[in-house]
Parts: sequence; C-alpha cells; structure tokens
Amino acid sequence: MNEYLENFINTKFEKPIKALDLGAGDFCDVKQLEKLGWKCEGVDLEMGIDLEKPYVSKNKPFDLVYSNYVLQRIKNKNVFARTVYENLKDDGCFFIHTFEKNDSVIATGMSQEFLQELLEKQGFRNIEIRIFDHYDKGHKHWHKILEASGQK
Ligand SMILES: C[S@@+](CC[C@H](N)C(=O)[O-])C[C@H]1O[C@@H](n2cnc3c(N)ncnc32)[C@H](O)[C@@H]1O
Repeated sequence: MNEYLENFINTKFEKPIKALDLGAGDFCDVKQLEKLGWKCEGVDLEMGIDLEKPYVSKNKPFDLVYSNYVLQRIKNKNVFARTVYENLKDDGCFFIHTFEKNDSVIATGMSQEFLQELLEKQGFRNIEIRIFDHYDKGHKHWHKILEASGQK
C-alpha cells in the first residue's frame, strides 16, 4: 500500500471503517485496506467510471476518500473536488497525492497554491498541504509529490 496513505490512516483512524479510492488503478490499496478490515470501494476509468464527471457512490457516505496520482490527469478539477466532498460524511477525511508543477517527469502537476484554493473553494477545512521528494524505485527517478489532506 502507498506508505504515506498508510501513515495517514494510522494517525487519523483508530479502527478500520469505510473508504473510497478515486482512480484505484490495479486496486492494490483497496485490497490492502480490505485486508486490514476496511470496507473499501474503488473506482477507475478502466471500469467505466469517468471522474471528469460527478460520481456519487451508492455506498456513501465514506469516512475516508483518497486519490493517489489521478488529479494531475483530470481536466475538470472542480468536478473532481466536488466528488471527493459529496462522497464524504461530515467530519470525514480526504487524502490526495498528485504531482507538483516542478516534477521532473510529469508535466501536468500543479502548484500548492492552486490545490489549496481548489480545496478551500469546495468548503473543506483543516487543509494541510506539503511537498516532498520521493524516489520511485521501480522507474528509478525522483518525483515532487504534492500531498493534501483535510476534512469535510
Ligand atoms: C497513475 S494511476 C494511479 C493508480 C492508483 N491510484 C495508485 O496509486 O496506484 C492513475 C489512474 O487514474 C485513472 N484515471 C485517469 N483518468 C481518469 C478519469 N478521468 N476517471 C477515472 N479514473 C481515471 C487511470 O485509469 C489510472 O488507473
């Protein structure tokens, strides 16, 4: 599982509850969370869910909505932020990883200020954003990760 997501969960949640993964890819994180006892739904373009459009799960509301390395691919970022918001329960947490605009590999990253404003506009609170360098061992290069978390 994404080690940063795992740390976030360990600090914010005392026990497994219910999570939604937006852009779940190979469902690696979903499967790991389920092993830990979470009820977890994952959606992805590969299964016909296009996050350029609003997505409201029949399983909502979720305690945690997370999305890793998807936002930089989405054009309608306001719609995506709304989807995070709509699927969360009040006080629920979100966790997003994407790429910072100066990432050396991904050209579609964004600035911290842009992401902060996107999330504030949506009405999220306790927003925390950080930028850090992460070495991708598989592809043998560095990334500049933009991590955002907060609450509905
Ligand atoms: C780099 S992968 C990340 C997968 C997973 N979140 C992870 O951390 O391993 C990006 C994923 O975003 C999905 N994706 C890209 N555009 C999308 C869209 N418009 N709607 C839904 N999923 C999308 C892709 O299909 C892909 O699975």
